[in-house]
Amino acid sequence: METQGPVKTKSVLLIVGGGIAAYKSLELVRLLVRAGIGVRAILTEAGAQFVTPLSLSALSGQPVYQALFDLTDEAEMGHIQLSRSADLVVVAPATADLMAKAAQGLAPDLATTALLATDKPVLMAPAMNVRMWQHPATQRNLATLTADGVRFVGPDEGAMACGEFGPGRMAEPEAILAAILAQLEAPAAHRPLAGTRVLVTAGPTHEPIDPVRYIANRSSGKQGYALAAALAGLGAEVTLVSGPTALPAPAGVHRLSVETARQMLDAARAALPVDAAVMVAAVADWRPATTEARKVKKGEGAAPPPLTLEENPDILATLSRPGPDRPRLVVGFAAETNDVIPHAVAKRARKGCDWIVANDVSGDVMGGDANAVSLVTADGVETWPSLPKDEVARRLALRIAEALVGPLSGTAESL
Ligand code: C5P
Repeated sequence: METQGPVKTKSVLLIVGGGIAAYKSLELVRLLVRAGIGVRAILTEAGAQFVTPLSLSALSGQPVYQALFDLTDEAEMGHIQLSRSADLVVVAPATADLMAKAAQGLAPDLATTALLATDKPVLMAPAMNVRMWQHPATQRNLATLTADGVRFVGPDEGAMACGEFGPGRMAEPEAILAAILAQLEAPAAHRPLAGTRVLVTAGPTHEPIDPVRYIANRSSGKQGYALAAALAGLGAEVTLVSGPTALPAPAGVHRLSVETARQMLDAARAALPVDAAVMVAAVADWRPATTEARKVKKGEGAAPPPLTLEENPDILATLSRPGPDRPRLVVGFAAETNDVIPHAVAKRARKGCDWIVANDVSGDVMGGDANAVSLVTADGVETWPSLPKDEVARRLALRIAEALVGPLSGTAESL
């Protein structure tokens, strides 16, 4: 039975994966219980090779969950309910395999099903061999999970059980505890945007020619999704209006999926009022003047069909127009291949927005993970170094927070 009392107001669902670092998770359970935090544990099949369910349940004072189709457990608590039963889901050790499955949304067992079903924040403490950690596949999964809103603690660098040296060692239980406490307590300084509403547009729009063809701009949606996740991480209530992308909705973000520019404008308007609107979407400037109801057929030896285009509404310019519904801060993006800054400065004036984030897309920014941007405001131009899109998002989210709520304390920088 869970001990009742004023101190045990918070709890974590701890997923123990299969790695030698699992022994440190026992210490983590002990520290959590001592800190007055309730712990329910899920032990994966591989994790059970390293620690026993008995030691976990003895330390946590709770039953340990192992099997997805364990009828006794299902009768007491379904796996969906279990995934939402705590304030925070912690994966320690998070193995390369667990990270890969979580990044892909695979759910072959109880642990991965809980990760897919949970509506709570997730914190992972990776632990693996240095080469496995540095492998592009793991780094891809890390980027995906981060974009999905998953937080990470570690890994540390040092000598590993396998005899190699480098990053991959699970963070020490005390460090994981500190990360858990920071997340659970979510002090106001870490959630400066709590109580604010932000609209983000992302991805391309598809403008249909006929049922099988469309015109579109190139856009993976990664930067917009990363920004939505970063803003939600700072406590904002985020509506993400997204054109077609392959990305999952970041945790804690309300996503509205649309296809065309006109649908995007309608969804953006419906999300008002908001405190800030950030238009990251690569909206198609034009759409076919008519959309054929049936597939246009190729005629034998015939000329290609003419394509007459019509201009799409400019969502950024529309939302920037003065009026009672205008967000306090409107931010646009400008993807340019040349004369980036002069174009961005002109665009800021033309669209009537407050800031333009200008990016040079002459390299492989489209679909890539890095972005070199300049922030163009009324005060001038600030050029940032080339950074991972998540880091661009984090910095921009902090700047937005400062614009909306004033200077942030130093702790927010450490987020
Ligand atoms: O004019 P351009 O497409 O270069 O402007 C880019 C900025 O304007 C981006 O922030 C984009 O999301 C926004 N935009 C928009 N609606 C359009 C075209 C662009 O919101 N129809």
